[in-house]
This record gives sequence, structure tokens and C-alpha cells, in this order.
Amino acid sequence: MSKSYIIAFDQGTTSTRAILFDEQGVIVQVSQKELTQHYPQSGWVEHDPTEIYNDQKAAFEQVITEAGVEPNAIKAIGITNQRETTVVWDKHTGEPVYNAIVWLDKRTEPICEGLRERDLERYISKNTGLVIDSYFSATKIKWILDNVDGAREKAEAGDLLFGTIDTWLIYKFTGQHLTDHTNASRTMLYNIKKLKWDDELLEILEIPKSMLPKVQASSSDFGSITHKGHTYPIYGVAGDQQAALFGQGGYKSGMAKNTYGTGCFMLLNTGKKPSFSKNGLITTLCCTLEDKKPKYALEGSVFVGGASVQWLRDSLKLIDNAAETSTICKSIPPLKDLYLVPAFNGLGAPYWDGNAKGSIQGLTFNTGRKELVKATIEALAYQVDDLITAMTEDSGNQIKSLKVDGGACANDYLMQFQADILDADVDRPQMLEVTALGAALLAGIKAGVWSQNDIASLRKVDHIFKPEMGIRERNHKKEGWELAVLRTRSGYA
Ligand code: G3P
Repeated sequence: MSKSYIIAFDQGTTSTRAILFDEQGVIVQVSQKELTQHYPQSGWVEHDPTEIYNDQKAAFEQVITEAGVEPNAIKAIGITNQRETTVVWDKHTGEPVYNAIVWLDKRTEPICEGLRERDLERYISKNTGLVIDSYFSATKIKWILDNVDGAREKAEAGDLLFGTIDTWLIYKFTGQHLTDHTNASRTMLYNIKKLKWDDELLEILEIPKSMLPKVQASSSDFGSITHKGHTYPIYGVAGDQQAALFGQGGYKSGMAKNTYGTGCFMLLNTGKKPSFSKNGLITTLCCTLEDKKPKYALEGSVFVGGASVQWLRDSLKLIDNAAETSTICKSIPPLKDLYLVPAFNGLGAPYWDGNAKGSIQGLTFNTGRKELVKATIEALAYQVDDLITAMTEDSGNQIKSLKVDGGACANDYLMQFQADILDADVDRPQMLEVTALGAALLAGIKAGVWSQNDIASLRKVDHIFKPEMGIRERNHKKEGWELAVLRTRSGYA
């Protein structure tokens, strides 16, 4: 029997990729382009939507050419994307009216403050599952309509469309205006219980409904792309963190994963009823399959994860590449009360302090380059531990094993330190591109390449890191981190 392949588009915060998987879930070919970051003002982060589309198209065409497989053997495309990032474009020309406002962008904090003053926190949390924060798309759309010349008039005349990056790519490739449940659930405009756009929030934020895409199951038909006479259907779409949960086998309730990407994102599948956090987590939709009831997840979103390693490399020039950090961390003794809190874009879950700024605490004459690198790496683990603590309190269940993925998982020191701080096993798969695999699986299920039951067998364990740290040392370190975060909070005097 001839082999089948699926292509995943993985459009992340820092890069745009096309990855070809075979039916064993093995990567056959990758094509990747770095994405330009624009920082027009302090706290603002933008991408060029046209660059994103052009890069995605080039990566797609390159992966097909270089893989050299029969086009007929490529059964479908799955798209996974950085979530919340907001694009608004003219539906007649297909041209963006402004750059994409990235999820990390903080410019809409004043709009959020206005919503908090109107006591909308409870309504928003109950209906969208989210906290009021500039992270989500809603206030970014409002900012564009309020600040780009002529945008509001055009939007009200029905001439502008909104999309997260999945929608933007689908529109450019197919001309259709669509999204899936996972991406819709990150806009702060989608009612996750009724599974429809929330009219009341649209009115409050003055966003015309005509701008919004149609929402459908993550594994369903999103149109197709024709290239060199062959038509490739897009059968899967999901926000990257939900795609990673799916790729880790997380369609089952009770499963948790953490992805170390630009940020750190932990998701716990809580089943068919949404459960709401009392400890700073948000509620979001898992990847959905046609004809199956949706499932919900509790999510802890940390804004700065791998981005802090990039900061070590690009801004501080303390390292040449991320790969050397594990060796550096292992080459020096344990840190003594040195903490780096990377609140470069405020603090996300579980603190939601948009005005916090990063800090380093515990500097002595012994603190050098290696110590700063180690404190930065350890901060990833402490932040993930904060999320696990919140999840444990919310769910009442101790998490004994955490599935992990994302680039920083290759760092053995981080993985061992993570297990030590969590006092739980850290389970690293052989194939770390679980986000892209999740999107491929969604597409492959619709195309009939896989069934949902095949997913678990595609995941192969590379290593399980077991906790080795003594309880006193762990508690001491965690107390030190807690204090460091407290001192970093915007209200700390
Ligand atoms: O919510 C933001 C998240 O989707 C970004 O993911 O992989 O680009 O860091 P990533």
C-alpha cells in the first residue's frame, strides 16, 4: 500500500514552518523562516501579516519540492498558530489595515482597565473563560478600529474582516473566512458554553459582528490550496497550545502538558464541562472533532519562557545559542538565593499583573555570566511550578507526571530541575514537535489517515526525569522564588 503524508503549517511567534509528517508521525521534511519582530514602542509587539503569508506559502512550496514525495500521497494540511495575535484587513483588497498586533503586546492595558472599572470581570470569565487582559484579541481589535484612520467607518460598513493568524492564512490561501473553536476561545469575544460569538461583549467593545469569522470544528474542512495542479485540503486548524495538548494524547480528560515555547503554556483537559479557576487560570476549548462534544481545558499561560533565553543571546549576548545553556547550568554549583523574574511583558498566569517589570534579585560579587544564565533557565521551571500549584488547588488532584514539549525541553538541566521543583515526573517525548504533530493529527483524522485511537501509539517516550531534590532544599528555593515574584509585582512598595 502506498504511504500517506500530512503537512503541518506551524506559524509561531518567532518562526513560520511547514513540516511534512509520514503516517508514523515521523518528520520527513521541514522548511522554516524566521519572523521579523517589530517593537514600535515600549510594550508594543507587531508582525507584518504579509510577511507571515509569504513565508508560509514559501515554506509550504519548499517542503513539497524538497521532500520529493508524490503530491497524491499528501492527504491534507493542518494549520497551527500563535494564538490571539490580531489581524484586521479590507475584504475587497485582502490588504491588512494595520500590522498584526501580537499576543505579547501591552498597548491595550488602558482599555482593559476600563472594562475592569465597568465590573465586567465576572461576566467575561463566566462566558469566555478568560480574565480581562491585553493578551487576548478583543481589545486589540478595538484599538485598531479606534486608532487606524477610517477603520471604524469601514468596519461598520461591513468592509473589514478580523482574524487570528489561522483565519488570516486560511483567507489568503482559500478566500474563506473561517476559524476553529480553539482560536475563537482566545478572542475574549466567544461564548465557550454556547459556542457562539457573544453579542453583549461585541456591543460593549463596539466590534461589528460582520468582522468575525465562522467558527467550526478543529478537525473539519477549511477549504483547499492548489499548487502546481494539485489540490491540498486544509482539514485541521488549532491554536498551538491546544494542538500540542492533542499531539500529546490530551484529548482524554485529566491529561496535562506543558509547552516551553516563546512563553510556557500548561493545559489540563478537564472534560466535557468547563471548570473555572479560583487561582488565576483560564478556561479554554480543547481541539474539537466533528460530531463530538467539545472538551475544555484549564490553562496557565506564562508570557516569557524561551523568549528569556533569546534575551540572553540577543540582548545580553551572554550565550551564542540556546543549546549551550544546559552545559553552562551543569558547570556551576547550585545557585544561592539568586532569582531572575522575567516579567518583560508583565506577569501572566497565575498573577495577571500587566504592569509588572522584570527583576533580578540576590546579586553578589559571585554572580557572573553563568549564574545569570542559570537563574534565567531556572525561572522557566519556577513559573511552570506556579501553574501546577494553581492547577492542583483548582482540581484538588496532585499532578504526578507532566508531559512536556517545545524547544527548551532539549535542555536536560532544565528538565531535571523542573522535576525537582515540581516533585513530579517530567515525561519528555522523542519527538518534540508535538504542536505541529497535533495539527497534522487533526487533519489526518479528517482525511482518514488516522483514527483518534492511533494518537497514543504515535507518542514515544524519550526520558522520564524523576525528582531527586530533598524537600528542605525544594521548599527553600520555592519560598525564595515566591518572595522574588512578590517584589516584582507592580503594587509592591
Ligand atoms: O498564546 C500565545 C501562544 O499561542 C504563543 O505560542 O509557540 O508562539 O510561543 P508560541
